[in-house]
Amino acid sequence: MAIITEEQDQPQRPNQSHSETRPPKVQKPISPPSSKSSTPNPFTFWFYFTLLVSLTTLFLISLSYLAPRQDPKSWFLSLPHNLRQHFSEGRIVKVQTSPNQAPIEVFTTEHGPVGAENVLLVHGLGLSSYSFRKVLSMLASKGIHVVAVDLPGNGFSEKSVVEVVEGGNGVFGRLLDVYDEIQEKGLFWAFDRMIETGQIPYEEIGNRVSKRKVVRPIELSPGDIARVLGQVVETMGLAPVHLVLHDSGLGYSANWVSENPALLRSVTLVDTDSKAIGALPLWVLEVPVIREVVLGFSFAYAQLINICCSRGIAVLDAEAHRVLLRGRNGRQAVVGMGTKLNKSFDLAEWGGSDGLKDIPMQVLWSGGWSKEWSEEGRRVADALPLAVFVTHSGGRWPQEDAADKLAESIVQFVSSLPKSIRIVEEEQIPEHIQKMFDEAKSTDHHHHHHHGHGGQEHHDSHAHVHGADAGYMEAYGLGNGW
Ligand SMILES: *[C@@H]1O[C@H](CO)[C@@H](O)[C@H](O)[C@H]1NC(C)=O
Repeated sequence: MAIITEEQDQPQRPNQSHSETRPPKVQKPISPPSSKSSTPNPFTFWFYFTLLVSLTTLFLISLSYLAPRQDPKSWFLSLPHNLRQHFSEGRIVKVQTSPNQAPIEVFTTEHGPVGAENVLLVHGLGLSSYSFRKVLSMLASKGIHVVAVDLPGNGFSEKSVVEVVEGGNGVFGRLLDVYDEIQEKGLFWAFDRMIETGQIPYEEIGNRVSKRKVVRPIELSPGDIARVLGQVVETMGLAPVHLVLHDSGLGYSANWVSENPALLRSVTLVDTDSKAIGALPLWVLEVPVIREVVLGFSFAYAQLINICCSRGIAVLDAEAHRVLLRGRNGRQAVVGMGTKLNKSFDLAEWGGSDGLKDIPMQVLWSGGWSKEWSEEGRRVADALPLAVFVTHSGGRWPQEDAADKLAESIVQFVSSLPKSIRIVEEEQIPEHIQKMFDEAKSTDHHHHHHHGHGGQEHHDSHAHVHGADAGYMEAYGLGNGW
């Protein structure tokens, strides 16, 4: 890297004869010359670019093609059977995290008798409602009404929004932008352009990198997630709810929990570390090359999961998590969400706050994962002195390898509490909205073929009815018969 800095500091070295042949138009600034790195300097830029292309060619020649940008429909059709099955049992709920943004489609799956005790399961980092598939059916068979949600950016929920963005700041930010650009357009795009036009497409890249309309991953903060959970609970009529938070599901949901104790019947924490950051190491999904390898190859991902999260996970299920995580920009969304977690979260302060100290709590913890993990469990138990503490034999993703014990503990805890009194009655859908919903339904099957191409455009053809399960199959451009 020292060499790179030197090149940049002395851009006008006399032996760079090609600078004379440079077309004059490259003088045009691409971005305000506020910092050293944003001063336009084609040579430096192309030096980086060549370096990057060489490295990419060496290490990644096939990897950039391992993460193809598929349209949602072909992505969906490529899914393994277990994921399609899971999807077909779910329903899309639309939520609004801010008033001037299009609603976000949130995938939920609901099992068990309506009207019984309500349990809401929230997954941790890198997971989705799919991880709860066994717990869902076990709880339902014990007469519990249970819902699992894919937080936006995860699983089958929406993962991206369209935005106009500025390019990254600094040398590293620009490098990352160019790297993304290569991933998006393919390794040989720049060379093709050079052959076509006889010129280096410097300006084209410069413009695109400094300002471009992109499909951005949804990167929700705990504040946004609070709004998502609030609307899911309201729409599905789940209050008062027994909340089950796994892993960083605690970090994601902590704000909503603190703000809404009145909607809670109990809280169960499942292997949630005291910082609520999660078992899957975020940097693995962040660092270029590593992230491509881990998400690009089943065995690499399965290896990682074995080390960090679960030793007993079935190969097919690890593969399902990998497919969901990398599909449709999922990785970026998950990383964005992970970096927005509250770094100064304090479990004792959270659990002891005025609103929460009277909410029944239970902690489910792995007894045999590692010595460090058992110690962490003791810290968590100390931070929540009133919580019931139960150990299980699974790993840090126990819904994968100790689902029966998990379900049993949840059932026991829920039934040990006095029966809930429903505080929110399900509202009638207002007539005009019902009408919109019916119209949307009757027009939907006339234009299936529009969906699945535009990515975000399909909103326009749906009625924005909260909670109406209007055509969830159309979410991927699949009306019927897939
Ligand atoms: C982060 O956590 C701390 C400690 O639990 C809390 O006081 C603070 O309000 C949280 N910050 C945000 C932005 O939620």
